[in-house]
Amino acid sequence: MSENLSPIDTAKFVAAKRATEFVADGMKVGLGTGSTAAWLVKCLGERVRDEGLKITGVPTSRRTAELAQKVGIKVISLDEARWLDLTIDGADEFDGELNLIKGGGGALLHEKIVATASDQMIVIADISKKVGTLGAFPLPVEVIPMGWQTTRSLVEETLHAMDVMGQKTALRMNGDRPFVTDEGNHILDLHLTRIGNARQLSLVLNQIPGIVENGLFIDICDVVVIGHGDGKVEVEDINAGTHEEGRIAFAESDNIFRDIAE
Ligand code: A5P
Repeated sequence: MSENLSPIDTAKFVAAKRATEFVADGMKVGLGTGSTAAWLVKCLGERVRDEGLKITGVPTSRRTAELAQKVGIKVISLDEARWLDLTIDGADEFDGELNLIKGGGGALLHEKIVATASDQMIVIADISKKVGTLGAFPLPVEVIPMGWQTTRSLVEETLHAMDVMGQKTALRMNGDRPFVTDEGNHILDLHLTRIGNARQLSLVLNQIPGIVENGLFIDICDVVVIGHGDGKVEVEDINAGTHEEGRIAFAESDNIFRDIAE
């Protein structure tokens, strides 16, 4: 399979595959959203099919729910699950303290609720997502459609007083219409370039009426599994203070993934 995958897809695949080793029989697992999380769902589906792994998934978006059901993972809502053993999700950026920017796919609200309702959150990412300081990736902020332009003005005013390098904001579009989240809201992308104090920014943004949630995940992620284009995988555990390196062997059976559309 490796020869059929680009280095970036290889990196996402090996991170996802390694992360499935954290999943055990009987677990309730939060399933993230995005291209890396899609690999995870496929790899978990493979374990369900081949090993009879018994898990219940709580998806963080409609598209993840559809994929999970397609690969044979039982899906329930967070209200049914109440609390989860583990959530595994992608990220747009992570720093050395495993603080994250998420929401590039527009699912940050459900992702944050599900991750926070979990004993442990594991991020799976290719090495390009690792940064010294968060902020090069535009920070997604979910806003209620009613009065969104006023909310945007308040955000811009607030950013003047924050430790950020850029202050440009943009309403995320889907073609010629505003992007709509699974909750029916819009997304403002904040082009900050560098976020000096992510914890403070997250708290301040969430004080603005009209903002539902922002894409900064502070003190939520416990472990990051980092994939490389050559099949190398690193596992960093912020609580245990450990760092492991390994390699994922590609099996011919991995070819099943080619038939599963995302
Ligand atoms: C979805 O809203 C995001 O938070 C994703 O987890 C993030 O954008 C990473 O996506 P990729 O794995 O596709 O890069």
